[in-house]
Amino acid sequence: MQDDASETIVLRAQHDITRVRRALTLLLTRASAKPTEMTKFVTAASELARNTVLHGGGGTATIELTRERKGFRISTIFEDAGPGIADVEAALRSGFTTGSGLGLGLGGAKRLCEVFELVSSAEAGTRVRISSRVGLR
Ligand SMILES: Nc1ncnc2c1ncn2[C@@H]1O[C@H](COP(=O)(O)OP(=O)(O)OP(=O)(O)O)[C@@H](O)[C@H]1O
Ligand SMILES: [Mg+2]
Repeated sequence: MQDDASETIVLRAQHDITRVRRALTLLLTRASAKPTEMTKFVTAASELARNTVLHGGGGTATIELTRERKGFRISTIFEDAGPGIADVEAALRSGFTTGSGLGLGLGGAKRLCEVFELVSSAEAGTRVRISSRVGLR
């Protein structure tokens, strides 16, 4: 396959979350990611995409696959211009929700990835970057 790939998906509705899952599954398959690596990353990305749609009022997911010395690195950046997260530490805790969910998405996503970076403010909205190495041989 081509060494590096990048793609931006607009997130407005439920079916856009499916598009993120599908794009990631395709790239991760090409990168020879192991089934567990694939499940972890796609699950984390689904939760973040859902948050972008439900809490952030929509936004984008930018997916990047880059070649590393051994294997690949998969990254996805979720961005929205929504209300932001007032207390990030609280939002990461299991059971914290301002909606009708279980409050497991954000903390769960963090545990499923090697890199989890979250920047949020009422002015600029929310930006979450997740990244993991996959397909190491
Ligand atoms: N992109 C976002 N913009 C604004 N607030 C957010 C965003 N993502 C998360 N939050 C806030 O963080 C809280 C916790 O998010 P988390 O995904 O853990 O739970 P949830 O979405 O409420 O429920 P679940 O994901 O379990 O269905 C949300 O209830 C919401 O208040
Ligand atoms: Mg959620």
